[in-house]
Amino acid sequence: MQNENYFRISFPSKSVNESFARMSVASFCMQFDPTIEQINDIKTAVSEAVTNCVVHAYPDSCGPVYITTRLKGDKLTVTVRDSGIGIENVQQAMRPMFTTDAAGERAGLGFAVMQTFMDKIKVYSKPGKGTKVVMTKNIG
Ligand SMILES: Nc1ncnc2c1ncn2[C@@H]1O[C@H](COP(=O)(O)OP(=O)(O)OP(=O)(O)O)[C@@H](O)[C@H]1O
Ligand SMILES: [Mg+2]
Repeated sequence: MQNENYFRISFPSKSVNESFARMSVASFCMQFDPTIEQINDIKTAVSEAVTNCVVHAYPDSCGPVYITTRLKGDKLTVTVRDSGIGIENVQQAMRPMFTTDAAGERAGLGFAVMQTFMDKIKVYSKPGKGTKVVMTKNIG
């Protein structure tokens, strides 16, 4: 179909792959001739979503992270998914400054940042099953 395109990648939840993921989505987005602001917004949101998979999804281990990026008309959808521990209370997790990080190194602002830089984000999660973050942005 015209003006419809997608790509999929998966990689292990290693922090070294975060920049690869962010740059892959950004490269794919070049086909709609984005503004620098748009590309920076997308990179920032992807970075937060992937970092959450690296930091939270597989505590003390490593597991797969899947990204699907889809362009359809004026809409960009980026889905970041893991099969990790999941989130018990998604509403609570999405609240700014909520974090389960005991070491005090995290601000609890990842979801807030994704919400700020994309138009819409939806989080689906089940404890023990994993987490899926679907972010959409109008690129018209
Ligand atoms: N993929 C995930 N798997 C399991 N838990 C997650 C996942 N993503 C987020 N969470 C939970 O949601 C909480 C809030 O996430 P958020 O990104 O907003 O903040 P943070 O990661 O704790 O801090 P920051 O992003 O500011 O470094 C996390 O502390 C964690 O408990
Ligand atoms: Mg985070």
